[in-house]
Amino acid sequence: MWLTNSSIGRKLIMSITGAALILFLTFHVLMNAVAIVWPTAYNTICQLLGANWYALVASMGLAALFVLHIVYAFILTLQNRKARGNDRYNVTTLPPHVEWSSNNMLVLGIVVVAFLVAHMIQFWAKMQLVEALSHDPATWAHVDGAAANPAMGTLFLHAAFNEVWTPIVYIIGFVALWFHMNHGFWSMFQTAGWNNDTWLPRLKKIACCWTTIVVGLFTIQAVWFTIEAKNDSYLNNEDLQAQYFEAYTEMMSEAQESIQAQAMEIQISDASDVEKEAKFMELQAAFDAKMGLIQTAVKTYCKDIPQVKAWIQQEEAQKAMQGLPEELPMEELEEVDTTNVQPQN
Ligand code: HEM
Repeated sequence: MWLTNSSIGRKLIMSITGAALILFLTFHVLMNAVAIVWPTAYNTICQLLGANWYALVASMGLAALFVLHIVYAFILTLQNRKARGNDRYNVTTLPPHVEWSSNNMLVLGIVVVAFLVAHMIQFWAKMQLVEALSHDPATWAHVDGAAANPAMGTLFLHAAFNEVWTPIVYIIGFVALWFHMNHGFWSMFQTAGWNNDTWLPRLKKIACCWTTIVVGLFTIQAVWFTIEAKNDSYLNNEDLQAQYFEAYTEMMSEAQESIQAQAMEIQISDASDVEKEAKFMELQAAFDAKMGLIQTAVKTYCKDIPQVKAWIQQEEAQKAMQGLPEELPMEELEEVDTTNVQPQN
């Protein structure tokens, strides 16, 4: 097939996938900006995109774009090296018209992919992947000692940007991304044949502006999220706490509805009374475990909500009461013979 067999066909695949990735990055940086100006709206978007079928299809399409772009990058580089043979080792200085990034697109791409792997582990694997696989909080990532709801993006921003290494790795990734995207942007137009003397300088300027805005915004965001995470803003913000509370109380009602439905199924099943009893116990244990995790999350992420505050205070008072002896052992005290007790020197 011409598209995969010819050199220009492969370059076209690189350009088309590259253009789609630039559009994705532009959308991504705008979505991150929402987390700065309106964090609760950002979580609502995360909830909407979450693990719904359309979001999963879009993510798979995006993954396919990345894979195609990376595979063809290697194929093209190998093909170029083969064509040039040993000549490439003779070049020590670049001709003036060849940019540094042009000769280092593969290395820059590898740095971006390395950043991306760390980024996916920090976010995607704990958010969309977890949500797609299970609704059980036992499988959720822990943020600040509690199971974080995968739809609450701000909790994951808090966890990620609290790590010292995160802004460092991100900034390295962004520098590589700037060079890679800037060169890729205008060279895709060149591949498409738009390389005349009038348009190429203009396209280079557009590429430089677009790339600088996108990567510059990512950089500002990384700095902003680091400051917010260090200040515990995503844990202390009252509007966010109310949003977390709503998400977790919704889960509690769902868990209650689900246990009732399952208990009913066991009740009307043909199982013997002993079997039913065992199943009820199993169901109750799973429910208690789930509720325990949700309650810990509510106490951690919604601590300033009045109901939660009152509940925490009530629990603390109960604990304090449990610490005291139930009754003072007056009888035992009366029985103690103190006549022979001598003061110790
Ligand atoms: C400050 C910088 C960034 C922040 C705070 C950030 C944040 C996030 C978050 C929270 C998600 C998870 C969304 C979800 O699964 O619901 C995500 C997904 C993703 N990010 Fe980023 N991101 C940043 C920069 C980048 C950059 C520079 C790239 C690419 C070079 C990138 C590529 C991706 C990809 C491919 C996904 C998966 C999208 C999907 O689920 O379909 N991100 N990012």
